[in-house]
Amino acid sequence: MLELAVQYNTLVVEDDPYGDLYFGEPPPPSLLALTDTVPGSRDLLAHCGSLSKVLSPGLRVGWLIAQPELLAKATMCKQFSDAHTSTFAQATAAQYLKAGRMPATLANVRKVYAERAKAMGDALKRELGDAIEFEQPGGGLFFWARLTGANGGPKDAGEFAKRAIEQGVAFVPGVPFYAANPDVSTFRLSFATADVAKIEEGVKRLGQALSK
Ligand SMILES: Cc1ncc(COP(=O)(O)O)c(C=O)c1O
Repeated sequence: MLELAVQYNTLVVEDDPYGDLYFGEPPPPSLLALTDTVPGSRDLLAHCGSLSKVLSPGLRVGWLIAQPELLAKATMCKQFSDAHTSTFAQATAAQYLKAGRMPATLANVRKVYAERAKAMGDALKRELGDAIEFEQPGGGLFFWARLTGANGGPKDAGEFAKRAIEQGVAFVPGVPFYAANPDVSTFRLSFATADVAKIEEGVKRLGQALSK
């Protein structure tokens, strides 16, 4: 990708709030880490990071690493949109990072979310069987799944979402995630905020929504 960026002189935006949130093996290096290996690519990469997924969404602190000219323009755009990120939140985040607490926090969130991801994957297999297909995520906060329509089950995730809401469970249909040609059978399930017991109950209700 970086080679293509250089060949076509095109900016690439790497939106990477989840890179540190892996459960087993670390993921491949970020594009940012690879820019050293592709001459000329550093100025064509804008890398966005965030503390939202690993420390606290409420802090609203993230960062952009980009070439100075782009950074200056992005800063101006941000000033137009929200004046600036709260300095109190930035100072709090800086203090936290300086105190060296992030490695222990990361180890903890990886463990907690790995447990939730496992609970959700197991429950999905148990409760929904071949009505859906998915890959067990190796990190992040979500499952990406697809309705198969097996045994007369739903094929349209929008329709399935309505049935799920009637059972008291909400998820996001996949259509808004596509730039073009959406697959209506896809949907996203989050294991970010519910504990294992709630995940199991939620997936059970999804199973009930299948046959309604
Ligand atoms: C892919 C991706 N990028 C960026 C963000 C934004 O994170 P923040 O809370 O820092 O605005 C999110 C949050 O949901 C996300 O999923």
